[in-house]
Amino acid sequence: MPNLKGRIALVTGASRGIGAATARALDAAGAEVILVGRHIETLVEVGSTLIHPSQTVVADLAEPDSAEQIVEACGHVDILVNNAAVAARMATTSVTGEVIDRLLDVNVRNLLLLIKGLVPSMIAAGGGSIINVSSVSGIVGTPNRAAYAASKGAVDAMTRSLAMEFGSKGIRVNSVAPGVIDTELWAKNKAIGGVEQQINTLIPLGRWGSPAEVADVIVFLAGDAARYVTAQTIHVDGGMGNTMDLYGGAV
Ligand SMILES: NC(=O)c1ccc[n+]([C@@H]2O[C@H](COP(=O)([O-])OP(=O)(O)OC[C@H]3O[C@@H](n4cnc5c(N)ncnc54)[C@H](OP(=O)(O)O)[C@@H]3O)[C@@H](O)[C@H]2O)c1
Repeated sequence: MPNLKGRIALVTGASRGIGAATARALDAAGAEVILVGRHIETLVEVGSTLIHPSQTVVADLAEPDSAEQIVEACGHVDILVNNAAVAARMATTSVTGEVIDRLLDVNVRNLLLLIKGLVPSMIAAGGGSIINVSSVSGIVGTPNRAAYAASKGAVDAMTRSLAMEFGSKGIRVNSVAPGVIDTELWAKNKAIGGVEQQINTLIPLGRWGSPAEVADVIVFLAGDAARYVTAQTIHVDGGMGNTMDLYGGAV
């Protein structure tokens, strides 16, 4: 377990799923966590499960000035986890400019502006760790997710560029690419008969991941055990992003 005592960590999308699990794991490692999301009640609920003092910041990352608002509310952070995102599974023949704009605003534009706002105090403090949550959809083709895939591919590309820009200032920038993780994001599809089992067959480890399994990797990247790790995208997907069953199970 990394020792994050004395560090301040900000997690966007901390109200549920991977974000809430990450907030809990960072807290268990000793960090003080700032929880960001759109609804105070759910953030306070997650905060009440933490050991260390936490702070909540209500912000909608779809709003143009949300990054400034968050920076103003929280000041300095040592660890930034950009986890909040909008997902859209939709045929490209049905996609609208509005949907694309929303995906890019939340997943790309305001993520980068939040980094812009928080990096100066990390530099002043001598360094920090930024972890962006991307997706298997940014790495391999996944069906009906062109706009979402574009936003997540952008997250991985930004991660590498930012790692170069801020490496000499002691700031490491990495991304974590989850595969199929059992959260609300998947609730509707999981309810369709046979979907869970069919997806299991695509995953070398044979099962969906849990939010805590992604959070553990984020905590590793946040801490000193990863002090020589930057510009990486770590797949947390049970192996699905690097493999395929070429023969459909026939041989
Ligand atoms: N689950 C998967 O299988 C999977 C796979 C690949 C990648 N990912 C990525 O992992 C991350 C977390 O996914 P998840 O499955 O934990 O999702 P989730 O359960 O749907 O949670 C999404 C979180 O983001 C917050 N959020 C959404 N829109 C927001 C906005 N406009 N402003 C501020 N906060 C916002 C939500 O908070 P409120 O609604 O309370 O504001 C919530 O805390 C995302 O980046 C997602 O793309 C997930």
